[in-house]
Amino acid sequence: MALRHAQIHTECHPASGGVKGLFRLDDAVSGLDALLPEYEGRIKLVYMDPPFMTGDRFFMRVRVGAEQWRRGKGSLEIETFRDRLDRQAYLALLRSVLERCRRLLSEDGMIFVHIDYRAHPHVRLLMDELFGEDNLLNEIIWVYQSGGRSVHHFSRKHDVILFYRKGPAYDFNIDAVKAAPSRPRSNHMRRHVDPDGRVYRSIRANGRVYTYYDDEPVAPTDVWQDLNHLQQKDPERTGYDAQKPLALLDRIVRCASREGEWVLDPFAGSGTTLEAAARAGRCFIGVDCCPLTLNLLRRRLAGSDYRVTLGAPAGDAPDCRATVQPGVGFYHVQLEAFDAAIPGMPEGAGPLDAVDCWSVGYLRPEGYTVMAEFQRSKRAPELQRELAVPAYAGELALCVGDVSGRSFYYLLDK
Ligand SMILES: C[S@@+](CC[C@H](N)C(=O)[O-])C[C@H]1O[C@@H](n2cnc3c(N)ncnc32)[C@H](O)[C@@H]1O
Repeated sequence: MALRHAQIHTECHPASGGVKGLFRLDDAVSGLDALLPEYEGRIKLVYMDPPFMTGDRFFMRVRVGAEQWRRGKGSLEIETFRDRLDRQAYLALLRSVLERCRRLLSEDGMIFVHIDYRAHPHVRLLMDELFGEDNLLNEIIWVYQSGGRSVHHFSRKHDVILFYRKGPAYDFNIDAVKAAPSRPRSNHMRRHVDPDGRVYRSIRANGRVYTYYDDEPVAPTDVWQDLNHLQQKDPERTGYDAQKPLALLDRIVRCASREGEWVLDPFAGSGTTLEAAARAGRCFIGVDCCPLTLNLLRRRLAGSDYRVTLGAPAGDAPDCRATVQPGVGFYHVQLEAFDAAIPGMPEGAGPLDAVDCWSVGYLRPEGYTVMAEFQRSKRAPELQRELAVPAYAGELALCVGDVSGRSFYYLLDK
């Protein structure tokens, strides 16, 4: 059966559990404006990883069809964002975003702004102006090993993360991010072994003896060298340029928020912050203007309870065909064809290879509510053609997220 296109503004992914999330496919400034009426003063942590004023274009290599998913390597190159604003426009964008973030933060909230050597001096001054010099808590240096080595200057292997509190009563939790030391402590201290066999070191200073156990968790300093950038073959890689490691966001989320509190990322990209927040039991809000982020989020947030507010419609909907078979208490929906014309598809790609993910659900007052969904993954590279949804009253609908990042919605006749 050929399906009729439907215009959808909100996609809901219900799940049980206390963690809730929102994602807005939107410009950061208008997205944050839309959040203010409900979330002003309620966000505990903002992390943002905006463009760095590199002058570059960024891409994602999207995997098309089962074979590319199996190999873990995509061939369809799609631009995700252009980091080409001049300094004045860049700082004007950040100023607008930061002003809104400050309003959204709770009085005990904190903000981390991730930048590199280009934007750093300008953003530091901007942050001092908007948040106050006295509220700078750390200038974190994230050191990583990746890529090549320059012969024209020293290789640039660090980013800067500016960490500010909103006000003096901030709620920072260093114990949540202590970890067993990766190397034994410095050997200028005397080494001992206690009766239980645990190694400890001691040092005498100012008339006191200090002891430190080798296996005792230690807090990170403001130089983070223990968390590497994602390597080429890292299973965590989504193919989205500029994706940050989950371990980095996990540290930030755990030290600056508690379970059930709200974490916001206004430049959410591939969704690393949102996944880290969901895993740690925090509620999350993301904003990003790149449509490709949506398929990544559907994959990374599978099993979470979240709502997506969609931006402008994705254009003319391709023809889509599906059948609905009633079963006992269920409808079985079979996806038959999706005729999207996408430039750059690999030779020999079949029509259903354009499907990255799809779902079936009901149209409800709150929006299109997903009841069953499938996303291709390394573990499930073949497209699952049938989804079963509980037979409820109401209008049944289907969504296809295609490999170019567009999402199309269709009505299903039962
Ligand atoms: C460096 S990436 C973020 C990567 C992210 N931290 C991750 O781990 O995947 C910057 C993101 O900012 C988004 N972006 C750039 N300008 C924007 C704007 N004006 N409004 C919303 N998003 C924007 C881009 O689409 C991109 O996804």
